Amino acid sequence: MRQQAGVAAALALIATLVTGARAAHDARPPVAHTGGFGEPTCVECHFESTPRAGDALSLDGMPERYDPGSAYALTIAISDTAARAGGFQLAARVAAGPYAGAPAGTLCTANPRVAVETDTATGVQYASHAGAAPADSLRWEVMWRAPEQDVGPIVVHVAANAANDDDSPLGDVILLGSWETRGNTQRRQGSDVRSQESETSAASSCRF
Ligand code: HEC
Repeated sequence: MRQQAGVAAALALIATLVTGARAAHDARPPVAHTGGFGEPTCVECHFESTPRAGDALSLDGMPERYDPGSAYALTIAISDTAARAGGFQLAARVAAGPYAGAPAGTLCTANPRVAVETDTATGVQYASHAGAAPADSLRWEVMWRAPEQDVGPIVVHVAANAANDDDSPLGDVILLGSWETRGNTQRRQGSDVRSQESETSAASSCRF
């Protein structure tokens, strides 16, 4: 009897924790889960599936070479036909050199389906789904403004969840991808990232 009560209490606790995590998370996933620069991925919580570097995940709109200060509309899409729901997280950072991992440019969204949040520890911005998307709209648009100066190659990491919508963290498929864009000029690679950070951090609204 006592043991059963204990088990019941434990199950109730787990249910509360999962529901709580869901309520907190359905809005958006926690920051710093793109898999880039040693970060964890969504697999930290959506386990039971091996992350796939996927054809099912695409990023459109990244120029091969960016023009400093220019704005680009990026489209993230999941084309996994088995997905019943989905979400993503994206970050843009300096790819290499002494400032590797530093924020590169500014992310912003005019779309309520996407939220942009800054990791206060690192200053890196993360764009994520804001509320899980249904199967027929696994596509999101994010605006990215390139840094005001050429900082050399920039890497965009995306982690996405092609979910089964079963309200459990099991059975979801995590897709990972990274895309690079290079600067238009070869000068000053990796320089002045810090001073740009302060310039761009104020410009996180969508006045592009
Ligand atoms: C700290 C734990 C945690 C991390 C990290 C996490 N999630 Fe979740 N996520 C949850 C929980 C809990 C739920 C609610 C249970 C469920 O629906 O799978 C959830 C639900 C979701 C859903 C809704 C799925 C559905 O079936 O309705 C999506 C989409 C999602 N997460 C995407 C992501 C993405 C993309 C990442 C990585 C960028 C991520 N999550 C990282 C805990 C997490």
